[in-house]
Amino acid sequence: MCDSIVRMEGKVAIVTGGSSGMGYETAKTLARRGARVIIASRNETKLIRARDTIIQKTGNPYVSYRLIDLASLKSVRTFANEVVTWEPQIDVLINNAGAVALADRLTDDGLNLTMQVNYFGTFLLTYLLLPLLKASAPSRIINGSAASMYVGHIDFDHWNDIGRFGTIEVLANSKLAATLFTAELDRRLRGTGVTANSFDPFVVKDTDILNNLPELMRNITQLFINMIGQPKEEVAKQLAFLASNPDLENVSGMHYKFCRKWINHWLAGDSKLTVDLWEASKSAVGITTEEDWEANTL
Ligand SMILES: NC(=O)c1ccc[n+]([C@@H]2O[C@H](COP(=O)([O-])OP(=O)(O)OC[C@H]3O[C@@H](n4cnc5c(N)ncnc54)[C@H](OP(=O)(O)O)[C@@H]3O)[C@@H](O)[C@H]2O)c1
Repeated sequence: MCDSIVRMEGKVAIVTGGSSGMGYETAKTLARRGARVIIASRNETKLIRARDTIIQKTGNPYVSYRLIDLASLKSVRTFANEVVTWEPQIDVLINNAGAVALADRLTDDGLNLTMQVNYFGTFLLTYLLLPLLKASAPSRIINGSAASMYVGHIDFDHWNDIGRFGTIEVLANSKLAATLFTAELDRRLRGTGVTANSFDPFVVKDTDILNNLPELMRNITQLFINMIGQPKEEVAKQLAFLASNPDLENVSGMHYKFCRKWINHWLAGDSKLTVDLWEASKSAVGITTEEDWEANTL
């Protein structure tokens, strides 16, 4: 089912975390299908190498990069402004970038670092790009999630606490937030032609995701991933399927895994919680009056 070969000429896709791992493979797959692809992450050297390799391997010259650090709200705003200024359309936004085992500290924005990289940065980016995504409709948002979300919790009074959560706990909380955000996006975007779905890549081999773990833990986890993980090329096919399959043009609010609709977190149906999440996230990232397109379109 994932082996679709839908062409994407004329489409513009942003892949955050496109410099390595499954984001890189996904960007390459989309480029091979003819899309114009923008890869976005922090490390310029990695981005240039990824861009050049994708162009060389696919023969598609329309691959570019832009810098974004999801741990900095200023960087996200700069990135979004550049995209809105220079890109006439965005057809696909794949929010894939993320990290595990980051330091247990606050960012310069006063948010929990893991929560900001894996959730708040993505929330802000998506919020700021939504007017352009709507103007480009039909368009698609795909938010990366993970199975850890099933053990996550959302507690607005403590979600940015330091010294409270273990590595897996804070990861789970951030992935749950990303999944519930997707459910609320779906509800807010109905009738706009913009779809929002979440995606769980299961366990993926040969990526850089374990780089922040202590060596022993990294080696043990690596053994486990090598035993049961999917090749990143397979995951890229699954993301490309979500990004391009014509049958999914009107499918929104779903959670996907292995190219199939998968059981979503039970809280995704709790619209009171997801509305609260939306408002709390707007407040956490400090959406300004000028940025607040919701208030401006009332
Ligand atoms: N691998 C798995 O088994 C697995 C399982 C479930 C979910 N996931 C999720 O899948 C996503 C991709 O993971 P991967 O395995 O492909 O890992 P990866 O190879 O480490 O790729 C992560 C990407 O995210 C970027 N990134 C990290 N921190 C960033 C930041 N602060 N701002 C902007 N970009 C940032 C990295 O770029 P820089 O190097 O420039 O920072 C890189 O391009 C992550 O969200 C991860 O949580 C992975």
